[in-house]
Amino acid sequence: MEKEINIVYISFSGNVRSFARRLQDYAAQQHQLLADRPTVKLLEISEATIPEKATAPFFVILPTYMTGGSEFTPEMTEMLTTPMRDYLESYHNIDKCQGFIGSGNITLGKMYVITAKTYAKDYGRPLIAAFESRGTIRDIEKIYKKLSVEAFGD
Ligand SMILES: Cc1cc2nc3c(=O)[nH]c(=O)nc-3n(C[C@H](O)[C@H](O)[C@H](O)COP(=O)(O)O)c2cc1C
Repeated sequence: MEKEINIVYISFSGNVRSFARRLQDYAAQQHQLLADRPTVKLLEISEATIPEKATAPFFVILPTYMTGGSEFTPEMTEMLTTPMRDYLESYHNIDKCQGFIGSGNITLGKMYVITAKTYAKDYGRPLIAAFESRGTIRDIEKIYKKLSVEAFGD
């Protein structure tokens, strides 16, 4: 049977979208080399998405957008990723989520990929990987391997 890794993601300035599409291209190449290697199927979530029931296990990729932390608004709050929460909480989709991957900016120190970390904690699923901005080819290779193991054990 064909193996498929499902990825649900959200992207505002295009970094996560770029990573997801390059990961999909890389997976297609790997699958051509060896038919046993999984392909990647993508689902982008946005404000306009009406959540549907997930029919297969999936992984989630999230950017990090924190606001606040200034003199006037000391509380840091997460913004923009609410549609992903809606997707996960609709139809018990979270039950099929196998883990989270975060994209962020490492210069932000302890705030690095805090959104994916928060989701992982809130929903009791692992944080599988993190990458900076749109990710390097090395990130794509590493994360493809990791997702293959998580999803299929090889
Ligand atoms: C307003 C704003 C706030 C951000 N806050 C964080 C943050 O707290 N932690 C982090 O790791 N990255 C942060 N980032 C970096 C983004 O998460 C990163 O650029 C990501 O790759 C964006 O993904 P996207 O292009 O798919 O939307 C922030 C970026 C912006 C523009």
